[in-house]
Amino acid sequence: MDGEPVIRIENLVKRYGAQTVVNSLNLEVAEGEIFGFLGPNGAGKTTTMLMMLGLAEPDSGAVRICGFDPVRESIKVKKVIGYLPENTGFYDDMDARGNLRFIARLNNIPDSVSSGRIDRLLDEVDLAREADKKVGSYSKGMRQRLGIAEALIKEPRIAFLDEPTVGLDPEGTNRMLDIIRNLSRERGMTIFFSSHLLDQVQRISDRVGIMIGGSLVAVGPLAELAEKGLGVKEGGVFTLEDIYMKYFREG
Ligand SMILES: Nc1ncnc2c1ncn2[C@@H]1O[C@H](COP(=O)(O)OP(=O)(O)O)[C@@H](O)[C@H]1O
Ligand SMILES: [Mg+2]
Repeated sequence: MDGEPVIRIENLVKRYGAQTVVNSLNLEVAEGEIFGFLGPNGAGKTTTMLMMLGLAEPDSGAVRICGFDPVRESIKVKKVIGYLPENTGFYDDMDARGNLRFIARLNNIPDSVSSGRIDRLLDEVDLAREADKKVGSYSKGMRQRLGIAEALIKEPRIAFLDEPTVGLDPEGTNRMLDIIRNLSRERGMTIFFSSHLLDQVQRISDRVGIMIGGSLVAVGPLAELAEKGLGVKEGGVFTLEDIYMKYFREG
């Protein structure tokens, strides 16, 4: 990995009551990477992301985002990150532009700066033509794409996207994955996104981490994990179940 990683996690632990939800997690992500965070529902993906965002406090261990501690240096961390939560909320009576302007103002970005950004973002997330429609009339896919635009209004260095394709049909999913890949290519942005669906993660990620029951059981390019772990040659067919089974058994 060249240079200082933009995400560094050491021995991170989070418990809720008696349950260890994140168990001694270690991970580094380099600037410009698309990192796919893969795991079944309940694996601990969202909890891990919330700790990276400073929205949940670790029980022990360390998180550094661009060198900053998300809990103690939350303002510095918030400046460099954008976040698409699992459930996005908008002002349904406002159009896309109005929603984005509102979020920009909340982030102390003057309208003179945000208006150009908003145009560019609406273009990047494929909403330029629907920008003046009330968001209440948007499809799930359009709402998710608007959520991406909101996450990027600050022009963050790292975008955290929690299940960005959940609930989307195949066409919506393809559009979303294309948008994410283009953001990485054209802006050099680091993207950390979670999913419980292998084929989606596989299509755009430089590296993946596989989280099962609170433990990160494997990290690397997915093809490499498949080959090493499952003996699948390049281009060979494997499923998420194959991978989970393999790491469950050894895990
Ligand atoms: N605030 C909370 N209080 C108690 N348990 C929680 C809380 N948040 C998450 N959990 C539990 O932690 C586990 C991991 O949840 P989560 O991080 O949402 O997983 P994922 O995003 O991979 O589906 C689940 O068993 C969930 O029920
Ligand atoms: Mg989740």
